[in-house]
Amino acid sequence: MGILAITGGNKIKSKPFPDYPIISEEDDKAVLKALHSRRWARSGNDSFLNPNSYKGFIEELEQRISELHSCKYALAVTSGTTALELAVQAIEDIRPGDEVIVTPYSFIASASCILKAGAIPVFADINKDTWNIDSYSIEKCITSKTKAILLVHFAGQSSDMDAIRNLAQRHNLKIIEDAAHALGAYWGNEPVGSNSDITCFSLQSSKNTTCGEGGVLITNNIDYYKRAFSLHMAGRAINGKWYQHEILGSNYRITELQAALACSQLNKFQEREKKRKENAEYLISCLKEIEGIEPTITLEKAGDRVYHLFTFSYKKEQWRNLSKMRFLMALNAEGIECQAGYEYPLYKNPLFKLYEDYDYSVFEKRCPVAENVCREAVWLPQSLLLGDRQDMDEIAGGIKKIRDNLDELKKK
Ligand SMILES: Cc1ncc(COP(=O)(O)O)c(C=O)c1O
Repeated sequence: MGILAITGGNKIKSKPFPDYPIISEEDDKAVLKALHSRRWARSGNDSFLNPNSYKGFIEELEQRISELHSCKYALAVTSGTTALELAVQAIEDIRPGDEVIVTPYSFIASASCILKAGAIPVFADINKDTWNIDSYSIEKCITSKTKAILLVHFAGQSSDMDAIRNLAQRHNLKIIEDAAHALGAYWGNEPVGSNSDITCFSLQSSKNTTCGEGGVLITNNIDYYKRAFSLHMAGRAINGKWYQHEILGSNYRITELQAALACSQLNKFQEREKKRKENAEYLISCLKEIEGIEPTITLEKAGDRVYHLFTFSYKKEQWRNLSKMRFLMALNAEGIECQAGYEYPLYKNPLFKLYEDYDYSVFEKRCPVAENVCREAVWLPQSLLLGDRQDMDEIAGGIKKIRDNLDELKKK
C-alpha cells in the first residue's frame, strides 16, 4: 500500500515529468533569425492585406493559424485577453448596454472583454459532462438586448457548435469563440472557429503552443479583420498614414521575436497533441477503476479535441468526505502536480460588485452546475500529458495510493 508522502512516506513519482515549455535548437534559430532581422515589430503599413508589405514571423504565424483553422484572416496580438477585447470591439453591433451571453466557468478575460466594450456579460450555466456552456441555459438568457454568445472550448474540447449556431441563427446573434485552450481542436470535421464571427487563441506560457505571451484572432469577415487590425494599431486605418488615427485603439502589437518562437513551437504542435491525446485516453482508462473519480466526458460528436487540461470530478462523498483540498495536497505531495481550478464561477468575482446596475448575485441560483463543478473539479496541466506511460501509471497510482490510505489521512 505504501505510506503517503504527505505523512512522511516516499513519493510515488519516480522521475520528474518533462519540463515545459520544451526548447529545441529550432527555437534558438528562429528567435536569433528574428533578432538579427532588425525587424522586431510590425511597422505601420505591414498587413496581411497588403501584398507588398514585409513578410516576417508575425505574418507567417498569422498565415499558419488561419490555415490551420480554415479562416481567411488572422491577426496576431499581445495576448489571448487582448484578442478577446479586440473581438468584441470589432463587432460594431455590440454596443454599450447590450448583453453578451458567456460561460461562467472560465478565466476572467472571457467576461472582462465584454465589460471593456461597455456591454453586459450574462452568464449561462454549463453542461455537467463537458463543463462547456449549455445551449438550453443560453436560450433562457436571451433577451431583446442580447447581441452575441461568447463561448469557451474548455480544456480543449469544442462547445456544442450545432446547438449554439442554431440558437444564434434563430435569434440573430453573433458568435465569438474563446479558443484559448483549443488551438488545433475540431468540432466534427471542421476546425474550431472556421464558421463563427471571431475566434481567439492564446499563446501564453501555460498553453499547448506558447511563445510566453501572445494571442491570435481569426475571422472570415473582412470588416471585423480591418477593425481589429486598426484597433490593435492605435486606431490607425489599414494602409493609412502613421499619425492618422480614425478610431480609439491601443497598442496590442506582438513582437517579431515572440512570433518567431510561436512559429517554431508550432512545428511540434501535431506531434505533441498526438502524445497528449494518447496519454489522456490511457489515463482515462486507468481512472475508470477508481471510485469517486470521474473524468470529464468528451462528446463523440465533438470530433478531434486537444487536451489543454486533463480534468476530473472529485466526488468527496465517495471519499468519506475527505476535502478536495486535502486530496490535492496529498496528490501534490506524491509529485503529481494538480490544481483546484476556478475557485468560484466568474460572476462571484468582486469585480462584478462594481457593476451595480446589474444584479450578478442571481447567477448563483441560475448556474448550479458551474457552482458544483467549481467544488469538484481537479485539473492536471497539459505538460503532464507529455510524459510517458509510466508517468500516467504513476498519476493513477498516486490517486489509488491516497484512496488506500484514506483512514490514515483522515486521522491526521
Ligand atoms: C479560457 C481563457 N480565455 C482567455 C485567456 C486569456 O489568455 P492570455 O493569458 O493569453 O491573455 C485564458 C488564459 O488562461 C483562458 O484560460
